[in-house]
Amino acid sequence: MSNQVNPESRRADLLVIGGTVLLPGGALEQINIAARDGRVVALGDLSGWSAEETLDASGLHVLPGVIDSQVHFREPGLTHKETLEAGTRGAVLGGVTGIFEMPNTSPLTLAPADLQGKLDAARGRAWCDYAFYIGGSAVNAERLAELENLPGCAGVKVFMGSSFGDLLADDTEVLRRILRHGRRRMAVHAEDEARLRERRPIVEASGDVRQHALWRDVESALMATQHIVRLAEEAGRRLHVLHVSSAEEIAFLAGHKQRVSVEVTPHHLTMSAPECYERLGSFAQMNPPVREQRHQDALWQGIRDGVVDIIGSDHAPHTREEKGKPYPNSPSGMTGVQTLLPLMLDHVNAGRLSLQRLADLTSAGPARLFGLESKGRIALGFDADFSIVDLRAQRVITNDWIASVSGWTPYDGLGVTGWPIHTVIRGHAVVRDEALADALPQGEPLRFLEVPPFPETEKSADHE
Ligand code: DOR
Repeated sequence: MSNQVNPESRRADLLVIGGTVLLPGGALEQINIAARDGRVVALGDLSGWSAEETLDASGLHVLPGVIDSQVHFREPGLTHKETLEAGTRGAVLGGVTGIFEMPNTSPLTLAPADLQGKLDAARGRAWCDYAFYIGGSAVNAERLAELENLPGCAGVKVFMGSSFGDLLADDTEVLRRILRHGRRRMAVHAEDEARLRERRPIVEASGDVRQHALWRDVESALMATQHIVRLAEEAGRRLHVLHVSSAEEIAFLAGHKQRVSVEVTPHHLTMSAPECYERLGSFAQMNPPVREQRHQDALWQGIRDGVVDIIGSDHAPHTREEKGKPYPNSPSGMTGVQTLLPLMLDHVNAGRLSLQRLADLTSAGPARLFGLESKGRIALGFDADFSIVDLRAQRVITNDWIASVSGWTPYDGLGVTGWPIHTVIRGHAVVRDEALADALPQGEPLRFLEVPPFPETEKSADHE
C-alpha cells in the first residue's frame, strides 16, 4: 500500500520506518510513515522517500499520540508542586503527546486573562500540545458560552465537591446557570459537597487514611453524578464525568450514554483499597478515592462493555512534604501523566484490554468526544503525533524517572511490561530512545472543531 498526498515530492521531515502501525479501525500493519509540516503525508512502503530525520521503529508499535485529558500542572501559583515545563516533560517521557490542563490553579482559570496567562506561560516551554479548561462557577456562569470557545480552551470544568483549591459549584441553581451557557461537553468532578462536609468528622476523629473511601463514600459520588446528569438532561448539554470510581456509577452511567461520557484513571484501575492505603498511606489519597476491589473490577467491566470512553491520569502533584502531613490534612492527588501509558501497556500485556481498545481510550476517544482537530488517528492529513512503544520492554517505574517537580510516583518500584520508547509530536521526535532528544519544546495549543448542538434540546437552551 502506498498513498501519497503529493507524488511529486518524496521528501519528508521525518520518516518512521519498520514499526507496526496501529491504523484507524484497528489493523496492525508493518508500514512506514512520512511526516511533513507536522502532518502525515504518506503511509506505506515509501521506497524512494528521503527525510531530514529517520526514526527506526523496528520491533516497536506505533500508536496514535496519547492525549491525557486530565492533568493539573499547577501553574500559575503552585509551581513548587508542578510547572507546565516539568509536567509536559513528564508527559512526553511517558509517551503522551497532548494534555488538557485543569483550572484549580492560583489564581483559578475563570476569565480570558487567566486562560491567556496559561497560554503565554506554555508558549516555548511545553513539550507536548496543550489546552486549558475554564472553571465553571457562580462568578462566570453567564460568560461561559463565550469563554469555552476561546482558542486553547478545552471546555468547562466544574467541581461539585471540594477537592483541592477554591473552585466549587455545589448549588443547583449555579449548576443550572453553568449548564445553560455553552454547548461543549462539560467536564465534572462529581462528589456531593454537602455529604462530604457532613461526613468529614469520621476522618477528623480517626485520622486514619484507610477511611478515606468511607468518608468520601460511593453514595457521595453517586448522588452528585445522578444530580448532574439530570441537570445536563434538563439543559440539553453533553457531559463528561471525570475519574468515575465506583461500580454503582458505572451501572448508572450505562443508562445515559447518549449524552454522558465517562473517564477513569489508571490509579482506579491499578490500585485497590485497603491495600493501597496500608502500603502508601496518604500518598494513595486522591479524590474521588481509590476504592475496594469490586469497584476496580466494575471499572474494567465498564471498559470491556464500552461504558468507559476515556482514560485520563488526573495527574495531581503535591510535594512529598505536603503528602506526608497527618491525614486528613494531607492534600489529595498523585502524579500520573508519566505513568499512564506504561501502566496501561502493562495491563495490555496482562490481557485486560487490547492495544486497539487502549488507543481508542487514550487517543481516538478524546479526539472524538472533545472535537480535537486532526488528532486521534494515524491517517493521511492528520497530525503526525505518535506514541511509539515496545510492548515487550520490561522496566521498573522509579521516583528518579519522574520529571514532575514533586518528584514521586505511587508506583515507585513497580515492574511493568511495555514502555514508551519514542514520542513524536507533529513530526518532531521529542523523545528518542526514552530520553529527551536535543530539541526545544514543541508544544502548541490544541485546536477544536466547532460543536454542533445536542439534537433534541437545543431549543430550550440559552447559548448567549
Ligand atoms: O485528588 C485530587 N486532587 N482530585 C482532584 O479532583 C483534584 C486534585 C488536585 O488538584 O490536587
